[in-house]
Amino acid sequence: MTYDLIIKNAKVLIPKQINLDLRSELKSESLDVAILNGKIAAIGSFASSQATRVIDATHLHLLPGIIDSQVHFREPGLTHKEDLESGTRAALLGGVTCIFEMPNTSPSTTNEDAFRFKLERARNRCHTHYAFFMGGSPENYAQLGQLEQLPHCSGVKVFMGSSTGTLLVEDDSHLEKILNHTKRRVIFHCEDEYRLRERKKIFADSKDPKDHPQWRDEESAFLATKRIVTLAKKTHHPIHILHVTTQQEMEFLANYKAFVSVEVLPQHLTLSAPECYERWGTLAQQNPPIRNQIHQHSLWKAITDNVVDVIGSDHAPHTAEEKSRGYPQTPSGMPGVQTILPIMLDHVNNGRLSLEKLTQMMTENVRDIFKMKNKGRIQVGMDADFTLVDMNKRVQITNQWIASKSKWTVFDGKWVTGWPTQVILKGQLTMSDDTIIIPHSGEGADFDIS
Ligand code: DOR
Repeated sequence: MTYDLIIKNAKVLIPKQINLDLRSELKSESLDVAILNGKIAAIGSFASSQATRVIDATHLHLLPGIIDSQVHFREPGLTHKEDLESGTRAALLGGVTCIFEMPNTSPSTTNEDAFRFKLERARNRCHTHYAFFMGGSPENYAQLGQLEQLPHCSGVKVFMGSSTGTLLVEDDSHLEKILNHTKRRVIFHCEDEYRLRERKKIFADSKDPKDHPQWRDEESAFLATKRIVTLAKKTHHPIHILHVTTQQEMEFLANYKAFVSVEVLPQHLTLSAPECYERWGTLAQQNPPIRNQIHQHSLWKAITDNVVDVIGSDHAPHTAEEKSRGYPQTPSGMPGVQTILPIMLDHVNNGRLSLEKLTQMMTENVRDIFKMKNKGRIQVGMDADFTLVDMNKRVQITNQWIASKSKWTVFDGKWVTGWPTQVILKGQLTMSDDTIIIPHSGEGADFDIS
C-alpha cells in the first residue's frame, strides 16, 4: 500500500472515545497519520517508504482542521470590507481550514437565490472549506424548514438586536415561529432590541466608545438570552447562543446545557473595558461589547465549567476609514479569523486552558453541534483536513501580516507563543510557514440533515 501522504511523529489530537454520535474529549498521542485520496486512511506507525510524500512533524501538534463557525465575509454587497477570497485567505494563513459565513450581507442572505449566489461566488475562489448560514426574518420564517436543507447550509442565524445590516427579529412571536418552522439548531445574536432602542436615547450625545458597553449593557444581552432560552424550552428546539459576554448569562446558561450550546470570542477573553477603549478607541467597538474584567473572568470560568462549547472569531471587518468616523457613527465589529488560533494558542501557553480543550471547542464540538459530515475529528474515513501547530514558536502579530481587506487588528504588536505552521486540506499542503502553497482549494462543507 502506498499512501499519498504520511504525517510522521506528530503529537496527534484524537478523541478519547471513538463514537460518532457522542461528543468526545481529546487526548494527545505521538502517532503517524496516513492519507489516501483526501481521506484519513490509517493512524498508527508507518515507514516513510509507504508514502509518495512525507511530512516530518516532530515537535508539532497535529490538530483536526480548525473550524471558525462565525465569520462575516461581506459578499455580496460590502466587498470593500471583505470578500470570500480575501476572508478565506486570512483564514488559511491563520490556520483555519473551514468557515461558517454569516447572512448579514447586502442584500441579506434570506432566500434560495441569494444563498445559491453565494455558493456560486464561493466555488473555486475560497482558500478554505466553507458553509453559509441562512438569515431568519419575519418575512421568511415559513420557508426556513426548506432553506435550512440547502447544500452547504450550516443552519439559520437570527439577530435579536440590530447590528451591521438589516437582519432583525425583535419579537417573541416571530422568534417562536422560526423555531417552529426549523428542525436544525438555530443560532442567535442575543441583544434585546427594545432595550437597545430605549437606552440609545440616554447616550444620544455620547462621542466616547467607552459608552458602548453602557448603551448595549449586560441586561440587554441577558434579557435576550433569557427570552430565547424560554422559547427554545417551550418548543423543544436546540439553539446556539453566539458571543456570550456576561456573568449573568453564563450562570443562567449553565442550567440549560441539554439544548443550548454557547460560543465565546477571543476578543472577549483577551481584552477588557475600559482599557481596550482607551487603547483602541472605536476599533474595539463590537456587538455585544467588550466588557469589564469581572465578565471576562466569568467567561474563562464558563470554559472551565464546560458551559462554553465553541470558540468563534465573529470576524467582522470594517475599513480603517469607517472606524475613524467618530463614535457613534462608527460600525461595530473587528477582524479576527486570522488571529483566533494564535491568540488562543497563546492562552494555552499561559495556562488558561489545555490544547486539548481548545481543539475540542474548535473541531469536535462544532462537528457535533452543527452535525458536520466527515470533518472535525482525526479518525479513519474522515476528510484529511489538518492544522499543524508549533506550540513553542514565538511571533509578533502585526497589521502587515493581516490579509483581511481591513488590514488591521486589535492585536497589532502583541507577541504570542504558539503558531499555526502548516495547513492540509483534503490531503494537500495548502499553507506552510505563512505562505499559501495551493490557493482556492476550499470546498463546500456538508451536514447531516436527516
Ligand atoms: O460587532 C458586530 N459586528 N457584531 C455582530 O454580530 C455583527 C458584526 C458585523 O457584521 O459587523
